[in-house]
Amino acid sequence: MDGNGRWAELRRRPRTFGHLRGARIARETIEACAELGIENLTLYAFSTENWLRPLEEVSFLMALLSRHLRRERETLIKNNIRFRAIGELDRLPASVRAEVDKTIADTAHCTGLLLTFALSYGGRQDLVEATRQIALKVAAGELDPLQIDENCVAAHLATAGQPDPDLVIRTSGESRLSNFLLWQNAYAEFLVLPTLWPDFSREKLLEALAWYSQRERRFGKVSSHAESPATV
Ligand code: FPP
Repeated sequence: MDGNGRWAELRRRPRTFGHLRGARIARETIEACAELGIENLTLYAFSTENWLRPLEEVSFLMALLSRHLRRERETLIKNNIRFRAIGELDRLPASVRAEVDKTIADTAHCTGLLLTFALSYGGRQDLVEATRQIALKVAAGELDPLQIDENCVAAHLATAGQPDPDLVIRTSGESRLSNFLLWQNAYAEFLVLPTLWPDFSREKLLEALAWYSQRERRFGKVSSHAESPATV
């Protein structure tokens, strides 16, 4: 959800104004995804690197997150949306952590869209933690190193049990992953939109899904329509 700051600066307003509008667009996008029958949505709301922003901005984002969860909890339940969070949740202020935990608990019975907030999340940290957990199991004699394969690594990541993303939408024209689900996005279709996040909309989501539906996902293999290679 990139571009909140620039959106506000273009309007000569403080960056926090962009984050406020960004939170509203996040809410609308979540509702649109639930309505469209999308099964999984992950929002990269705060990266491990975002802690390095000015304290004032970090505090604003934490307060916004807390308020957003408190206000939206009932709507999530009404829309049958299950909430979860990935990332270094221990780094969140206690009040935010409490809202996160309550939202997870209160929506645990929901069976529709699985909404994941990546909070204080970093793909590299996710891989480091998975490696540590695997190493501990090996050291304890619970895991044979020969059993370590892709499924084993995936099962130790924060997203264990969830499918890999099909489509990543990055707003504001930046064409980088910024430490987002590095392992899990190996074969995701990556769509970069020039739109700043506060200008994202249901229409743009539908356009992105239409684009995705035209993609041919080969997963490293040849096209199913490709002719057989000539024999030599
Ligand atoms: C990136 O824009 C956005 C963030 C780091 C925060 C994302 C947070 C929200 C959308 C609001 C809170 C979210 C929820 C779901 C309640 P940027 O600040 O990097 O913008 P810039 O690149 O233009 O500076």
